[in-house]
Amino acid sequence: MSLTELSARADKADLEIDQLKDLFSKISSATAAQKSAAGNEKELLQLQEENRILKEKLKSYENGEASPAKTSDESGQGEDEVNPWDVKASSEKGVDYEKLIIKFGSSAIDSILISRLESVIKRPAHHLIKRGIFFSHRDLALILDQVEKGNKFFLYTGRGPSSEAMHLGHLIPFMFTKWLQDVFDVPLVIQLTDDEKFLWKDLKMDECKRLGWENVKDIIALGFDINKTFIFADLTFMGQCPSFYQNIIKIQKCVTYNQVKGIFGFDDSSPIGKIGFPAVQAAPSFSSSFPFIFGDKTKVPCLIPCAIDQDPYFRMTRDVAPRLGYMKPALLHSSFFPALQGAQTKMSASDPNSSIFLTDTPKQIKTKINKYAFSGGQATVEEHKEKGGNCEIDISYQYLRFFLEDDEKLEKIRADYSSGELLSGFLKKELIDVLTPMVLQHQEKRKLVTDQLIQEFMTPRKLNF
Ligand code: TRP
Repeated sequence: MSLTELSARADKADLEIDQLKDLFSKISSATAAQKSAAGNEKELLQLQEENRILKEKLKSYENGEASPAKTSDESGQGEDEVNPWDVKASSEKGVDYEKLIIKFGSSAIDSILISRLESVIKRPAHHLIKRGIFFSHRDLALILDQVEKGNKFFLYTGRGPSSEAMHLGHLIPFMFTKWLQDVFDVPLVIQLTDDEKFLWKDLKMDECKRLGWENVKDIIALGFDINKTFIFADLTFMGQCPSFYQNIIKIQKCVTYNQVKGIFGFDDSSPIGKIGFPAVQAAPSFSSSFPFIFGDKTKVPCLIPCAIDQDPYFRMTRDVAPRLGYMKPALLHSSFFPALQGAQTKMSASDPNSSIFLTDTPKQIKTKINKYAFSGGQATVEEHKEKGGNCEIDISYQYLRFFLEDDEKLEKIRADYSSGELLSGFLKKELIDVLTPMVLQHQEKRKLVTDQLIQEFMTPRKLNF
């Protein structure tokens, strides 16, 4: 079966579950009506039988036993591992994202959807979308429908503050989110999960809070609009906003241990804090968690740009949303920013040589790229000229796809490197020339972020909405 067929099938299955749930609630009320009318007994029995079967089906879907989104890897080998804590690819080209779309049951961002997006925003799509770096979504079309009707939505993204210095990969979702905020002119909430890092890492509580504060500087430096952006850290916000906590509890009531066990791989020795945490990341998807922004509007649609490893949290969120009378959040998923050493893993903040940090000096940037950036070139110049370089695995080229905005220039580099005309050294130099001014500019902007400005961003308050 082809990829599109499979993907369509997964979509259809999603729809069918929704229809089943719908039908189930209709039949429940129909049954009640029938009972009170004490009318046609045969029909009543039939309805009850249908009701029973539907309930069973629903139950098995909810327990994840018959999840329509799960497909097994047909080859039985080379399975990539992608979850919020671990990303491992079996091929040097990195994670097989087409397979991931099927496995997760999301939808590909295809050229039709991109054209629709462009016609709604009346400008070209961001290069991260056009180049397939944001490659998958859930319900983006529904958000566009709302925009066309003149209705507002809000953006939600976040960061787990586990290290002081952020690296290039951490910037991607935020840069993209800033673009979304600008083109749609909508409010944005940014969650810092200092509680998550306290639970998962060997860090003191105060250290988690401090790391969050440091990371906010990098986030604010990207230029988010203070009139439309609220940033919060869980360990503090939980005590400031009863509605946030109440939503967390509502979510926790709906999700069983059995369900999160399947989604997140918890087991009997997992601390209960971890088991309860997914509800904390889910809650900001609902506008009712922020009454100071949205007033009593509990159904403002939400769009979440994130790396695809965060999807498990939001699959769970989408599952509980209708049961709480809330909207399912829509999602835009990005692929991972590869490590300098190659696309097999995501960059790791704990290995300083696996990535370019926002605190690196021009000299460090140059050395790291020259020394570590995995090359898709051939072993000798002669061989390279004859066979050409492989852009798919060349990290300098891959990084340029993320950060070199000029489409024509990028395409020329691709063509000339693939034909063997350009050598690896040229790509590395090109990348150094793009990244050095970018990182330096970021450092300048970060210096301008004062504690007072951070405080303002993090104060619960009305936004322009
Ligand atoms: N768990 C994420 C991380 O470790 C942080 C996060 C919280 C997040 N809420 C989010 C990321 C929403 C994307 C979207 O980085």
